[in-house]
Formats: sequence, structure tokens, C-alpha cells
Amino acid sequence: MSLIDAAREVRETAYAPYSGFKVGAAIRGASGNVYRGCNVENVAYPEGTCAEAGAIAAMVAGGETELIEVCVIADSPHPVPPCGGCRQKLAEFGRADVPVLLATVAGETLGTTIGELLPGRFEVAHMAGVDVD
Ligand code: THU
Repeated sequence: MSLIDAAREVRETAYAPYSGFKVGAAIRGASGNVYRGCNVENVAYPEGTCAEAGAIAAMVAGGETELIEVCVIADSPHPVPPCGGCRQKLAEFGRADVPVLLATVAGETLGTTIGELLPGRFEVAHMAGVDVD
């Protein structure tokens, strides 16, 4: 199954009773395995989580920490870009040249990369002197 089909499928499972805006995300790990996530809202609004965060959690739970491809889909007039927080989350596990496909349910797509979404990202090199595993 293609990444976009996986994102389209998981979007249907989104829990979005407050915004009514369902989002699906699918990411391919370096192994080739595909991990999916959907947005999960909460009556305490800030506690909701984005589709990208869910897909990343699934990848890490699956034993992988490097992603090589991302797709996000929503039923919006134009492809929806990941929020600021999700850009940083994606950048944690993907190189700047990792392709990100943004798509609408209707079929419009926009290709970008993690680097384009988050130029000047904060990364471990900025913490010189701090030991990181
Ligand atoms: N949302 C995502 O899941 N991913 C994005 O990239 C943009 C926004 C969700 C969060 C919230 O549940 C709903 O869309 C409306 O903001």
C-alpha cells in the first residue's frame, strides 16, 4: 500500500469531535515499514495530539528512530502543512532532505521536505558540551 493510501485510510479513524477536522499521517521508517497516526482530540483542547505525533509514536514503539518519507492528508481546500510543533517532531527523526507529501482527500498534493518546513531547526549540534546518547 502506498504511503498516501495508508494516510488516507488512517485518517478515517481520527477522533476529532471538537474541530471536525480529521487528519491522517503515514511515515516510512528506514526499514521500509509504514507507521500511521491520526489526530486525537480531547475535551481539554490543548491535550489533543496531531496525526504526525501519533505516527511518530507508532514508529518509535515499532523500534525505529529514523524516518525517510512522510505523508499527511486532510479534507481541506488545499494541502495542510504540519503545525510548528509537528515540524520539530518530524525533524527529530528525519533528515532535512526527507520528502513530505501534503495531500487533500480530493486529490491535490504538495511536495516539500522537512528542511523546507523547518529551516534553521534546533538540533543537537546547538547543545555543544551536552552529552547526548
Ligand atoms: N492537526 C493535525 O493532526 N495535524 C496537522 O498537521 C494540523 C492539525 C489536527 C489537530 C486538531 O485535532 C485538528 O487538526 C485541528 O487543528
